[in-house]
Amino acid sequence: MAKLYINPNVKKGTINKEIYGHFSEHLGRCIYEGLYVGENSSIPNKNGMRTDVVEALKEMKLPVLRWPGGCFADEYHWKDGIGPKENRKKMINTHWGGVVEDNSFGTHEFMELCDQLGCEPYINGNLGSGTVQEMSEWIEYMTFDGLSPMSTLREQNGRKEPWKVKFFGVGNENWGCGGNMRPEYYADEYRRYSTYCRNYGENRLYKIACGANASDYNWTEQVMKIAHPYMDGISLHYYTLPTGNWSDKGSATQFDEKDWYKTLSRTLFMDELITNNDHIMSKYDPKKRIGLLVDEWGTWYNVEEGTNPGFLYQQNTMRDALVAGINLNIFNKHCDRVKMANIAQLVNVLQAVILTEGEKMLLTPTYYVFCMYKNHQDAELVESSLTTEKIGLEKEFMVPNMNESVSVGADGKLHITLTNLSLTDSYEIDTVITEGKAKSVTGTLLTGAMDAHNTFENPNQVHSTEFTETKLTDTGLSFMIPACSVLSLEVELA
Ligand code: AHR
Repeated sequence: MAKLYINPNVKKGTINKEIYGHFSEHLGRCIYEGLYVGENSSIPNKNGMRTDVVEALKEMKLPVLRWPGGCFADEYHWKDGIGPKENRKKMINTHWGGVVEDNSFGTHEFMELCDQLGCEPYINGNLGSGTVQEMSEWIEYMTFDGLSPMSTLREQNGRKEPWKVKFFGVGNENWGCGGNMRPEYYADEYRRYSTYCRNYGENRLYKIACGANASDYNWTEQVMKIAHPYMDGISLHYYTLPTGNWSDKGSATQFDEKDWYKTLSRTLFMDELITNNDHIMSKYDPKKRIGLLVDEWGTWYNVEEGTNPGFLYQQNTMRDALVAGINLNIFNKHCDRVKMANIAQLVNVLQAVILTEGEKMLLTPTYYVFCMYKNHQDAELVESSLTTEKIGLEKEFMVPNMNESVSVGADGKLHITLTNLSLTDSYEIDTVITEGKAKSVTGTLLTGAMDAHNTFENPNQVHSTEFTETKLTDTGLSFMIPACSVLSLEVELA
């Protein structure tokens, strides 16, 4: 029997709600079709935003949304996306499928979307191909309250009040699509660009430097060394590729048991990446003022057959649910350093929580995980530990059978989230709550075959269900977690 120890009195820091963040790029059918259909669409919408998608995302409690990219961000010129739509400049989206970008979704539309979702905007500026002036003016346009050239332009475009913008990224993947820079060069550019990212009025920017690609620790080291006094956060990008090979990443739905454990083992690498980045950051920032923002994470497979390779459209199975559950538990446990995380991407791209086809919409297994974990948002991480064993089919890709995290909310309730990585075994868990007693418990479970997924023909194949198998014991709780599942429990303490 496995033991889960929880001490609700040992608080380990706040789990920022932004850890449950998302990412929306001008890529494939994420923005256009997925989120924005335009005012004249026959698909029900409010000011162009799909009502069905917005409602589902509100239910999931999306706290922060990153935009406009990704690689697109360093080619995006924000002035092309403001003013009357018929006058907006058309461009080719060279990164993603070579399609025409008509700029009908720009700053005002993004802010409208955030407003409808009730989430914070996270704007990613263009350092790779834009100018310092352009970046500086975008911030003035969005946030200046008073008379200035940019606030006047904003007013001419129908918005008198400034918006509140906290999160601002100064470039994206500048080691790659954002300019192929060396870390020393980027760090100097970061210092220059960020100088002109001004705080206007009450608005306070949280400036985010471009961080490393996976385990490129030298990037973190150099950027921290040169630019740490000028940043509030630094990013980290890490995708789970089942094969570990960019030229053949594997299928989203057709995989075997070995691929399952391989994928989960590569997912667990996130823990090592965060630990090592934290270690480097602590050399320059021992008090952990600067946040690590994992602003791109998730699975990346070969695209679905017959779809545009530049659109990164992929299905989403129970395997993705496990990837999400494991990563979110890891982020929670590192909440002293990880201040935000943004799964890539929100709709129709990579590990999406929603897929659409014309007017149809479906919720993916990953969506349910985000709903089941939402009570962790802004809760206090508490001390927990779980006895685990190593499982798997190949020596190189052994994984712990479960992972977990536990928080206590403002209402005093305990929120336990657990994943069972085993494809074959369920586990009995004896939960010991030290310094506290459980009064009542409710639960939600997501389980199914490893490749179970929702389709437009069968959109409810995978969905969460109420979990009522938990028993209260003298010391805490006991329950059995089924194989291949994600479980969340909410415990009221006596
Ligand atoms: O999410 C897709 C792409 O992955 C992003 O545009 C880029 O930042 C990363 O390489």
